[in-house]
This record gives sequence, structure tokens and C-alpha cells, in this order.
Amino acid sequence: MQILRESIALCHAVDRWRVAGERIALVPTMGALHAGHIKLLAAAREKAGRVIASIFVNPLQFNDPADLARYPRREAEDLAMLEAADCDAVWLPTAEQFYPDGFATGVHVAGVSERWEGEHRLRHFDGVATVVTKLLAAARPDLAVFGEKDYQQLAVIRRLAADLGLPVEILGAPTVRDDDGLALSSRNALLSADERERAVALPRGLEESRAAISHGRQVATVLAEAHQRLSQAGFSAIDYFALVDSATFEPLDSPRGEMRLIAAATIGTTRLIDNISVEMDTVGG
Ligand code: PAF
Repeated sequence: MQILRESIALCHAVDRWRVAGERIALVPTMGALHAGHIKLLAAAREKAGRVIASIFVNPLQFNDPADLARYPRREAEDLAMLEAADCDAVWLPTAEQFYPDGFATGVHVAGVSERWEGEHRLRHFDGVATVVTKLLAAARPDLAVFGEKDYQQLAVIRRLAADLGLPVEILGAPTVRDDDGLALSSRNALLSADERERAVALPRGLEESRAAISHGRQVATVLAEAHQRLSQAGFSAIDYFALVDSATFEPLDSPRGEMRLIAAATIGTTRLIDNISVEMDTVGG
């Protein structure tokens, strides 16, 4: 596995593969890798001969400096995991390389980025859209893989790629969960044993709400009950628990089209997000 720290090294690797006619996939990450990331690499590998992972804890997408400071960083373990996962190259840009003095450009995706995570983490999606644009411009992949765990992020990136006409396929890979249903996340490492146990109320609440909505119960009632159950389970702040259109992220007060149940809530000091689909064919079933 090539370890690329300078953009020029990435550029040379990509040039060589392009000349050889290889299809290239990029898996952007912020490190602290877990089995969910390895699934993203596997999804990339199915569609491309060369797989590049990037590791960059992007300061632009953190609105809270304390959150940025405590974001887990585990470079040696990450490199070992990528090597074992048969990754061809890992790119590790630094913040100085990415945002040198005088950096003044930002990418804003209107509409889909403005509610939910967008409201609770101001400028978060501007940071994501800006860094993803830079990552795609530098790595020039044929496809880029993102986890469905951050479904609003995936919707923002799809909108961005379509609107800018970027020559890249954006692939969403299903959320990977622990046996009890908790979605894998680098932030889970920050949970105490007791918080980890109680955190399972989040995926359970989503599952129960999905079942209730698909059995025709009133959406507002289902969402209110889910809120209450999360509070009872010990979540201190529930930023949102909502049914939305899965492309626009507009809230839905009754089931229609492609839908997603989305939630963000804090347990202890750790904010968790999760989502699941609510399929049309289960509605009323
Ligand atoms: O999902 C993430 O890990 C990050 O938001 C991403 C897409 C790598 C951009 O920094």
C-alpha cells in the first residue's frame, strides 16, 4: 500500500493508473477506522481496480473546536487496517496543505444541507462540501464511496456532484451495525460502557418507528413517542427525530415517496446520528 503524504505523490499515482486504463475509487474518511469503513473499501473494490482511501480530519466541518480536539486519531492502527483491507494507496493530506494561508473558497449546497444536521452544526455541510470537492479534484476518481450512516451528507454530496457536473459516480454503502443494532461510528469509542448500553435505544427507536409508520400509525404521534422513549433511555438532548424525503430532506408529515427516518441525539457528551429507510412497499403493510 502506498502511503501518500504530499498531493504531488497522489497526483503521480493517479496519473500512472489512468495511463494504465485503471478504474479508480476514492473512499474519503476522517480516520479512526472501523468495520464500517472496511465495508466502504469493499464496495469500492467491487467497482474499481484501484482503491485510494483518504484520511483527513477536516477542521472546516467542525463547528465546535472541542469536538475537533477530541475527535479520535489513530493513524498507525488505521494504516494497518487499510493494508489488511487491500487498499492500494492512502492519502494523508495535512490541514496546512489543504487550507494554506489565504484559503478563501467555500462550497455551499443550498436546500438539502440546511435542515437537521445543517441547523444543529452550523456550516458543517459547507465544510464537508468544500473538502469533498477538494478531495475529488485532487484524486480524480471514477467513483467515490460514502456511508449511508451519514445519509444527509450523502444527499448533499450527490447534489453537489450533480450540480457541478463532476465526472464521478457517488456510491452510498449501507450502514454497518453492531449485533445489538448500534450503527458503527468512530464516535462510539467515546461512549462509556453504560452509555454504550443505553445508546441502543437510538436504533431501536428508529426500527419501532419504522414499523409503526409502515402499519399506518400517524407520523406525528410515532415521532413524539420515539422522542419520549429516547429521553427515558437517558439521551439528554434530542436534536431531531423525523421522517424526511430521502433526496431533499424536507420533513414529511405523512408517508410518501422515498423516505428516511433520521435521528440525532446526545448521550453523556457524545452526539450520535442514525437513519433507516422506510420503504414504500411496507407502508400500510
Ligand atoms: O464522513 C466523513 O468521514 C467525512 O464527513 C468526509 C466525507 C470524509 C469529509 O471529511
